[in-house]
Amino acid sequence: MILEDKSIILKDGRTAVLKSPCVEDAEKLLNYIKKSCGETDFLMRYPEEWNTTVEQEEIWVNNLRSASDTLAITCYVDGEVAGNCEISFKSGMKISHRATISIAILKDYWNLGIGSAMFTELVAAAQKRGTEIMELEFIEGNDRARHLYENFGFRVVAEKPNAFKLKDGTYRNEFYMQKYLRKVSANEISERKKQTK
Ligand SMILES: CC(C)(COP(=O)(O)OP(=O)(O)OC[C@H]1O[C@@H](n2cnc3c(N)ncnc32)[C@H](O)[C@@H]1OP(=O)(O)O)[C@@H](O)C(=O)NCCC(=O)NCCS
Repeated sequence: MILEDKSIILKDGRTAVLKSPCVEDAEKLLNYIKKSCGETDFLMRYPEEWNTTVEQEEIWVNNLRSASDTLAITCYVDGEVAGNCEISFKSGMKISHRATISIAILKDYWNLGIGSAMFTELVAAAQKRGTEIMELEFIEGNDRARHLYENFGFRVVAEKPNAFKLKDGTYRNEFYMQKYLRKVSANEISERKKQTK
């Protein structure tokens, strides 16, 4: 799935661009995710757990762009990757009413409204697709993320105790949030598909 370029104005007045990640930016994307994972304990991996090569990343970006069940959105500021998010629409018959979100923005760009702009796009994509439940997880203590998610109507519905163990030996719980969207009829979805063809 592809999001065409969309300009947004950040809280500091700069212009940023939201768009699907480009294959030619594979190396920048790899550097961004490794850096992000070093800046916070609230992501799934440590930086050294990223041993993807640029070639593998290129394949991953290409696959993402052609995937019918995933929309990735990268935020570019002054041509540099500031953050990325994804929504994965589940495909099994029993779970296709759900979609899962992930997001990470580099520290230099926190609190500028990028996360909110991305969530606006993700919610719109889910609504367009007819998704009923958007879901995500966050690690205990990630108050900024929780605040953003609550702003967009997500609510904590479950807690997984001791889901993460950090290098210092301490444990963190994981919270699971859901946001319910309007239930859309099959007819309406098929009409929308016709209109976007
Ligand atoms: C969490 C994250 C995605 C938020 O994105 P962002 O671009 O900084 O978000 P925004 O600027 O759009 O909004 C941040 C909101 O949190 C608020 N906020 C900032 N620091 C906060 C804190 N310590 N506690 C509570 N709220 C806080 C801001 O005031 C703002 O709320 P508002 O819009 O009501 O004023 C981003 O900071 C990030 O990627 N962090 C590191 C990786 C991560 O945690 N990813 C999520 C994993 S679940």
